Amino acid sequence: LYNRQPIVAIDGPAGAGKSTVARRVAQSLGLMHLDTGAMYRAVTWRVMEAGIDLDNESAIAELVSQSQIYLTNEPQAESALTPQDSLPLRYRVWIDGEDVTQVIRSQEVTGNVSAIAAQPAVRRELVKQQQQWGCQGGIVVEGRDIGTHVFPDAELKIFLTASVQERARRRQQDLKDQELPIVSLEQLEQDIQQRDIRDSTRALAPLRKATDAIEVVTDGLSITDVTEHIVNLYRTLQAIP
Ligand code: DC
Repeated sequence: LYNRQPIVAIDGPAGAGKSTVARRVAQSLGLMHLDTGAMYRAVTWRVMEAGIDLDNESAIAELVSQSQIYLTNEPQAESALTPQDSLPLRYRVWIDGEDVTQVIRSQEVTGNVSAIAAQPAVRRELVKQQQQWGCQGGIVVEGRDIGTHVFPDAELKIFLTASVQERARRRQQDLKDQELPIVSLEQLEQDIQQRDIRDSTRALAPLRKATDAIEVVTDGLSITDVTEHIVNLYRTLQAIP
């Protein structure tokens, strides 16, 4: 038996609001936060930058075994705070000494990440790192396979979803907020649907709700609503002896 701190697993499809909600839940409960999607994105960026073909699995396996990924949180200047993101900590993603926080959110990386995340060697290496980081508990871990595969014994498992239409609207708003080129809602809905199919039908660790996960549908709910709901679930759980 073990006496680690609790683990909160948050899984769900792209655009359900996982990242923002997971960060807020972590900050409000004083837990660490691990965004596993950022790890798959960082590896994807590294593969593209190295000019390796996406289907060259052996070269990618070699690269991932040699790459160092770091996720850091650092205090953010007051002046940098925006209403959408008023957290005092700024979250950054590094691979092999390069800050890739912004670039891993690009359309190019987003378009290629599913192909990388489907490769066994990539998943084996990243899951190992995730388990090492999280094994002490006291952490909110977000991804696709956290409750089903990475931490099947997590104390609280949330499956966060929203309709495709709602997720496309949010993604378009993100693009506007970041002053990136606007993509039509139709195109975004199509991209999201395709990514859902790829992520949930792949052979290895597909996206699915763990049988003991609590499903939260976020259509029409604010980030604050969803965060409070999860924080309350966590507190209820802690109150049970
Ligand atoms: O959550 P996100 O959009 O940043 O995730 C990027 C990609 O990584 C997405 O296509 C699914 C994949 N992913 C995964 O396969 N397993 C995880 N635990 C997290 C993300």
